[in-house]
Amino acid sequence: MAYDNIIVDVEDHVCTIKLNRPDALNALNLELLKELGDALADGQKNDKVRCFIITGSEKAFAAGADIKMMSSKSFADVFLGDLFTPEEEAVMRIRKPIIAAVSGYALGGGCELAMMCDFIIAADSAKFGQPEVNLGVMAGMGGTQRLTRLVGRAKSMDMNLTGRFMDAEEAERSGLVSRVVPAKKLLDEATAAARKIAEKGMISVMAIKEAVHRADQMPLTEAILFERRVFHSLFASEDQKEGMAAFIEKREPQFRDK
Ligand code: CAA
Repeated sequence: MAYDNIIVDVEDHVCTIKLNRPDALNALNLELLKELGDALADGQKNDKVRCFIITGSEKAFAAGADIKMMSSKSFADVFLGDLFTPEEEAVMRIRKPIIAAVSGYALGGGCELAMMCDFIIAADSAKFGQPEVNLGVMAGMGGTQRLTRLVGRAKSMDMNLTGRFMDAEEAERSGLVSRVVPAKKLLDEATAAARKIAEKGMISVMAIKEAVHRADQMPLTEAILFERRVFHSLFASEDQKEGMAAFIEKREPQFRDK
């Protein structure tokens, strides 16, 4: 499919989606978000895709929701139109893993999009922030919620209330990102991680994603029970037989997603 605001590339079972509005530092307008949702949905259906990477440019992952697109909207426009709800749901609906590879600015909706992904690999140049307070609004795609769960209330309040940016080192220390790599190696590192995931059985990979997401959403006893039952259910898969047999026979497993 041809897109105007993103570049999609599928190679070695990894679908890399590059946000591509360089003149606006990849600001997220509705066209871009629609294309992103469509590309993710296509990849979810495509057996050749086993993991996604969402990335931006060296200067900006995304500098936020498109302020020019929002500036003249009224309360009725955004409330009745439910601004960003379908766009966020389109990302959260994806069951295959999504890695955010962040270089440069990940601000406002950009930081929020990165947090919708399953984990973030950051370039040492990355800067995260929720500066919506400077615009007379607040975060609207998870910046007061996912950020709080990821980095705790103190840092989330600090970032949301002051609008200050967090550099990559602080983001790693705070649990927002899983690793920090030199900017020039960002895509190589993210691709290597995505290929490693793509080698695994998709049944266990997708079950793990579902289970980890429950950690945010359920009380611990319920979430542990959910994990235990999904763990039990994986014993119905051929991949479990293959994975354990391969370990015992000291060979690489050949997962068949069955
Ligand atoms: N929306 C629309 N356009 C944006 C944008 C945004 N979020 N961020 C940057 N741009 C545009 C600029 O308007 C500029 O375009 P022009 O050349 O046509 O003027 C171009 O991108 C380059 O930006 P700058 O000249 O500002 O670049 P800089 O290097 O001086 O500064 C920056 C970079 C600090 C990221 C600065 O652009 C900035 O502060 N951007 C806005 C960040 C922000 O407030 N994000 C939150 C948006 S609201 C939101 O996201 C709501 C939500 O939670 C869903």
